[in-house]
Amino acid sequence: MSALEIENIRKTYGAIETLKGIDISLDSGEFLVLLGSSGCGKSTLLNIIAGLAEASGGDVRIAGRSVLGVHPKDRDIAMVFQSYALYPNLSVRRNIGFGLEMRKVPVVEREKAVLETATLLQIENLLDRKPGQLSGGQRQRVAIGRALVRKPQVFLFDEPLSNLDAKLRMEMRTELKRLHQMLGTTIVYVTHDQIEAMTLATRIAVMRNGRIEQLGTPEDVYDHPATLYVAGFVGSPPMNVLNGVVTGEGLRLDGSGQVVALPARFKAVTVGQRVKIGVRPEALRLAGDGAEQKSLDVEIEVVELTGPELVVTGRASGQRVTACLPPRTKLAVGATQAFAFDEDVLHLFDAETELALG
Ligand SMILES: Nc1ncnc2c1ncn2[C@@H]1O[C@H](COP(=O)(O)OP(=O)(O)OP(=O)(O)O)[C@@H](O)[C@H]1O
Ligand SMILES: [Mg+2]
Repeated sequence: MSALEIENIRKTYGAIETLKGIDISLDSGEFLVLLGSSGCGKSTLLNIIAGLAEASGGDVRIAGRSVLGVHPKDRDIAMVFQSYALYPNLSVRRNIGFGLEMRKVPVVEREKAVLETATLLQIENLLDRKPGQLSGGQRQRVAIGRALVRKPQVFLFDEPLSNLDAKLRMEMRTELKRLHQMLGTTIVYVTHDQIEAMTLATRIAVMRNGRIEQLGTPEDVYDHPATLYVAGFVGSPPMNVLNGVVTGEGLRLDGSGQVVALPARFKAVTVGQRVKIGVRPEALRLAGDGAEQKSLDVEIEVVELTGPELVVTGRASGQRVTACLPPRTKLAVGATQAFAFDEDVLHLFDAETELALG
């Protein structure tokens, strides 16, 4: 039985359709990330699962039971919000234990559960403080603790790390992953941060305008983006996308018209078809002296050392290209450099439909 089933969920606000039929089925222990840009409907979907918003159609089942019409507190879920929403006048201890207190869990049992959870989150020495006496990261741990302590069927997180600074966000991300590996809980997690999605998820649902654009493992979504949108959204720096056309000789780039060889696996393309050619920046390397199979001539414009890598920006047939190279690579700005890539890293999308080809 699925831990969570979302079936054809729709949501309309007046005349505007915010969710246009969402289907997802989650196994127990999965970490699903809803990824998408602002306004695509992530929070709306999460709120419908939580019972904080009403669906206009479809069904939500938790452990096999339809929960539409069931009060949020009876759904066996726990939610962590972006704003931690802690009670400022209560100690950390009581903030974490509040849900258990409301459910009239006996005090001894409650204390034990609170201490266990706090220890797990490494905040057991903060139990007597008030939220105002905590750092942002510590507050976030308390908010997570409050959800964790209840041992629900499904955890719902809505951008829980977005209020933290970059370093703390990374630490908490690792912490969340560790917790998930340890506890094997079922999680639905909303973010617009593709790195968070890639690192945390067992599966990612890339959402766009109220629809799921692609649902798959991080590897799937990264290596086999189903659409141009997904290709551009996941990955940083984003995938290079070059406009071109299929000819008898291969793929001819617009602009000055250099030709890139067409890998044999794209059998379905036709001569004259307009395409978008995708290559990830890290898939490019300097072409050696030997006869490289696939290559791209790039006029180098800017070279930036980030520390772990050298980010090179230039133009191929007038179109912008970025490459991520080893940090000690020597390159001359203004020169034209041939970049090589393996043929299996080349992505093709139909220019019209923006769907992946091959
Ligand atoms: N109560 C409401 N009434 C009307 N429209 C709403 C309401 N709540 C949300 N919307 C609209 O529904 C769409 C989806 O909103 P939602 O909050 O789900 O987006 P989101 O993906 O979570 O975005 P963000 O990343 O900015 O949080 C938006 O266009 C929003 O304006
Ligand atoms: Mg939101």
